[in-house]
Formats: sequence, C-alpha cells, structure tokens
Amino acid sequence: MGHPSSLAVMPAVVVVMVMLSLSSCCVPSAVARGGGEAEQQQRHPVILIPGAGGNQLEARLTEEYRPSSLACRVWPLVRGRGGWFRLWFDPSVLLAPFTRCFAERMMLYYDADADDYRNAPGVETRVSDFGSTSSLRYLDPNLKLLTGYMNTLATTLEKAGYEEGRDLFGAPYDFRYGLAGPGHPSAVGSAYLQRLRLLVETACAANGGRPAILVAHSLGGLFALQFLARAPARWRAAHVARLVTLSAPWGGSVQAMLTFASGNTLGVPLVDASLVRDEQRSAESNMWLLPAPKVFGNTTLVVSKSKQHNNRTYSAKNVTQFLRDIGFEAGVEPYRARIRPLVEALPEPGVPVTCLVGTGVDTVESLVFGDGGFEDGPETIVYGDGDGTVNLASLVAPIKAWSDSPAQVVEVVELPKVSHSGILNDKSALDQILRVLDSINLNATTSTTQHHQPS
Ligand SMILES: *[C@@H]1O[C@H](CO)[C@@H](O)[C@H](O)[C@H]1NC(C)=O
Ligand SMILES: *[C@@H]1O[C@H](CO)[C@@H](O)[C@H](O)[C@H]1NC(C)=O
Ligand SMILES: *[C@@H]1O[C@H](CO)[C@@H](O)[C@H](O)[C@H]1NC(C)=O
Ligand SMILES: *[C@@H]1O[C@H](CO)[C@@H](O)[C@H](O)[C@H]1NC(C)=O
Repeated sequence: MGHPSSLAVMPAVVVVMVMLSLSSCCVPSAVARGGGEAEQQQRHPVILIPGAGGNQLEARLTEEYRPSSLACRVWPLVRGRGGWFRLWFDPSVLLAPFTRCFAERMMLYYDADADDYRNAPGVETRVSDFGSTSSLRYLDPNLKLLTGYMNTLATTLEKAGYEEGRDLFGAPYDFRYGLAGPGHPSAVGSAYLQRLRLLVETACAANGGRPAILVAHSLGGLFALQFLARAPARWRAAHVARLVTLSAPWGGSVQAMLTFASGNTLGVPLVDASLVRDEQRSAESNMWLLPAPKVFGNTTLVVSKSKQHNNRTYSAKNVTQFLRDIGFEAGVEPYRARIRPLVEALPEPGVPVTCLVGTGVDTVESLVFGDGGFEDGPETIVYGDGDGTVNLASLVAPIKAWSDSPAQVVEVVELPKVSHSGILNDKSALDQILRVLDSINLNATTSTTQHHQPS
C-alpha cells in the first residue's frame, strides 16, 4: 500500500498539503496570541480528547468480583474513598502477579443477549475529572511521574493564554469501549457522546457563545467524528468551529491485526504477552482499529503459512475469518454485526477538519506468520509509510472519502518523521495546532456574527 496517488486531484475538497521542514517552519503569531484582555475574550474554547490509554481510569471491586488469586483479592492495599483505586495507569501492572489482576479487571465481555459490552463481573469503573485536562496530564495523579500524552499540548495552550476551566477543557473517556453501527446499543460509548455534548455546550456558553474547537488524538478522533456526524447540523454549526485531529486512524491499522494475533506489550519486558493479548482482544475499541475495507480494499495484509492454514491470505475484507483463525471466535459476531458497519462508512463530520498526520515512519504494512502459527508472532514484517502505528492510507482517508462533498472542508497537514504519539510533543505539530487556533480566533475577533444561525 503506497501513498495514494489520487491525493492531489480531489477537486471538491479543500486540500492543503503543507510539507513542513524545520527551515520553513511557520512564523508563530505571538502578537495575535499575546494580546490583551479584549482579545482573550474572543477565544474559542478548546476541548482536548485523548487517544486510547490517554487518561486515567478508576475501578472498585464489589462482592461479585472473583479474583483469580490471593494477590488480586488484596491488591491494591490502599484504596480511596468508596473503594476506588487507579486502574489505568498503575505501574505495579509491570510486576508479574499484578499483571494478571490488571488484565482481569480491564477485560470487557460481550453480552450477546444485550448486544453490548460490559465490564468483568464485580468490577465497576469510572473516568475521573471529566471536563478537566487533569486526568489527561498525569496518569498517576499522586506521584505525577507518568505524564499523559496530552500534557505538553495542554501546557503549550496555557502558555498561549488558554486557561483550564475557562477556555480549555478535557474530555476523558473509558477507552476500552467503542461505538457500534446503526441499530446496536453502546451504553458506555453513547453516554460519553452525551457527556461530550453537554461539555461542548457549557464551554460555548462560558465563552460568549463562540463555538468550540475539538482537538483529538488517535482513537479520540474516531469518537469525535462519530460525535459530530451524529449531531444535528444546526447544533454543530452553532457549537463546533473545527475538528483538529492528530494521528487519527480513520481506517484502522495493520498493526491492530498484530495486536489481535500476538498481543502487543509495547516493548515492555516482563509482561506476559498472552495475558496482555487476551485483555487487548476484549476491548471493543481495539476492534474499531482493525483495518477497514474502505481504506485497505483487497490488499493482502496477513499471510499464514502454517500447515493448517496453507498460505491463507487475509485482506481487510477477511477480518472475520482472521479473528476465527487466530482463535478469537468470541470476537467474530460483535465484529461482524457492530464494528464492520461502523467502519464501512466514514461519515462527514459537517464541520471543517484539520488532520495533522506524521509520515515517513516505518509502519507495519503486512505480516507473514510461519509454522508456529499466530501465537508465535510474525516471521516477517513488511514496513511501509505511516506514523509508525497507523498506515498512511488510513491517516489521509478523509481526503478520498469526503471528496464528493464540496461543503466538507478538510485540510491535511503532513509532518515528516513525526510518529503517532510523538506528534503530541513535536514542535512543528504544536505550532500547527496554534496556527489553526489562531486563525479561527482571529476570525472571531474580526467578525462576530458569522457563527450565528437565524433561529
Ligand atoms: C476485490 O475482490 C472482490 C472479490 O474478490 C472483487 O469483486 C473486487 O473487484 C475486488 N476489488 C478490487 C478493488 O480489487
Ligand atoms: C506457501 O508459499 C510458499 C512460497 O510462496 C511455497 O514455497 C509453499 O510451498 C507454499 N505452501 C503451501 C502449503 O502451499
Ligand atoms: C478473503 O476474501 C476474499 C474475497 O472477499 C475471498 O476470496 C478469500 O477466500 C477470503 N480469504 C479468506 C482467508 O477467507
Ligand atoms: C474565517 O471566516 C470565513 C468567513 O466566514 C470562513 O470562510 C473561513 O473558513 C474562516 N476561517 C477559519 C479558520 O475558521
């Protein structure tokens, strides 16, 4: 899968390909940002939406909880009021006996009768500090050693004049859950969209009715897209000025197939890969990240050379067969019914979009599994273009998907050699985000009536 050659010839879409290099870096509009009170009043509120694993999760255990070991019964020794403790992220997960406790508490289950996902029995979870960026900044709020992915961005925005709770907000969520296609319930995911809607309304109201700017990383971009696509057009126009996505995996990634097949310990030693794999397989949101046929088409992504599979090849169209063959039968039905219809469409968000994407980083493009089967991990990994996690074709998918719609503005900014998460700390990316915010704020200052809809 290469760089789609049709990128440059999409007439209906406003495509701005900005090829950044260190020398041609934009001029920061410090003058426009550093202005006085009057100008601060004109800022559009910003809401940060993290990617998977980008905010804290808390848990507590009820009578129903059946620990797999004594260690899991007592751990963690210290719990807060109401029995709540930090589930994500707690560094003790790296110690073998606790990895198991962590995995069994993080695990989701698909309830076929309810056609929805739920927590493990006896495990209640919650997202703390919704509305604030605090749970995005530090994954361990007590020691503050584990910086969240979005900490640098939040700090950069504060330096530019944004203020927590005034025009800067965070929308953390339970990133294990996803959303489903039409007609299928998603209690947790839908509740998040509802909460996000109220947060957007509150943020606008607190800032003179100026519509908010959503800045979303990775999986957060997929939630933001669904959020906008499902909202009434009038509501969107009044409440959201722009969606800025960072490394959004619009059509999933080949790497997700590797995660499902063999587990992905992210290079952390001492962690039992099969435990991690089972937990990762159980997360509904990980299924959402499997490669979508709309983007990957018929291209062979995986080959299995084991005797049993006889050089079987899998494309994005064969994901159900793939799930079956890797021994994850439990995932087949929810994938087929809930996820496939969701990823089949890449709906237009109906507000202008800026996609910041890293390119030129080696990214898993295809996998060959040998005689040992899927368990043993791939025998060969072929790399292609992308941000190190998400393939280029997926990162730039909106250009093609929304090309028939002249009204849908999409700006794609490629950042060479910037990785999937590195984008959140990269100077050129942060400058781009400020540029987008500045240009919208500048508009607000020069024209105060443009966003008002006749009622
Ligand atoms: C993909 O495969 C299907 C069935 O094998 C075929 O009908 C279709 O034309 C193929 N599409 C592409 C883009 O090759
Ligand atoms: C699988 O493909 C390889 C090379 O592509 C070939 O050498 C081998 O014989 C094939 N195996 C089977 C079982 O067809
Ligand atoms: C993958 O899908 C194609 C067409 O949709 C089909 O011809 C092929 O047999 C499938 N492969 C597997 C392994 O199921
Ligand atoms: C600024 O306002 C103009 C006119 O309403 C609009 O076309 C343009 O897209 C706006 N720019 C931004 C960055 O929002």
